Amino acid sequence: MGACAPLISVMAMRPTAVELAARLAEDLGLMMCDEPLAGTSRFVIEVDDRGLALRDCQRPGLRALRVRDLPRHRAVTGRGLLGRALGKRSHSVMDATAGFGSDAIHCAELGLEVIAIERSPVVCALLKDRIQGLPLDETRLRLSVKSGDSRQWLVELPPPDVVYIDPMFPGKENASAKPSKAQQLLRALVGKDSDAVEVLQLACRRARHRVVVKRPRHAPPLTGEVHHQVLGRTVRYDVYLAGQ
Ligand SMILES: C[S@@+](CC[C@H](N)C(=O)[O-])C[C@H]1O[C@@H](n2cnc3c(N)ncnc32)[C@H](O)[C@@H]1O
Repeated sequence: MGACAPLISVMAMRPTAVELAARLAEDLGLMMCDEPLAGTSRFVIEVDDRGLALRDCQRPGLRALRVRDLPRHRAVTGRGLLGRALGKRSHSVMDATAGFGSDAIHCAELGLEVIAIERSPVVCALLKDRIQGLPLDETRLRLSVKSGDSRQWLVELPPPDVVYIDPMFPGKENASAKPSKAQQLLRALVGKDSDAVEVLQLACRRARHRVVVKRPRHAPPLTGEVHHQVLGRTVRYDVYLAGQ
């Protein structure tokens, strides 16, 4: 890969997808390419009539990740880990670190109105594509996506009942569980979330009821004053009560 090769480019996989791919490239300020593995980019967003897929050109053996095909959570009752962490009285949640949206979709399936915020424009485009691919049912109607930094949206939007934060797990703490292909791609695209404590502190001032932070089961809390924890096998939800 050359020194000034673009990190990410966009490729139309069918003649019918050229217009959509060109619009996406323009929106994201990316170059179009014709050949994914020619060594010009690290990542290629492939566009076809079924939506978007992300290819990591450094791993040619790996199929492109079609975010629409990512599995949904199996347990969607309020008694599951996330449901318990969100709390029975919560009706709205801001997912301040939306990524590819699995947790945001889970929250919507639990019946909450969800605003999902993602600051990486490329990840946000993939997230929007995933949500567009959902059946047009109540879950999808409860979901909206905003691009940008949640620290800004936390100030600009009306306070939600819950702010949910799932910062990128630091590699070492998560050594016991192998990250999924989607997590690996996300990490390669956006790197570490080094400002998560700042998001948490602001969220504690803005949320109406609580802030929920997802952590690896054995990692220390992001900051001190956790009110209670909901423990899973590999992950943990730290609950901070608003205004404390
Ligand atoms: C670990 S991933 C979240 C995965 C997500 N919970 C899911 O279910 O797919 C963290 C994501 O949060 C985003 N992020 C981190 N800090 C952010 C901020 N301040 N504002 C908006 N997005 C942020 C990163 O770009 C990354 O995509």
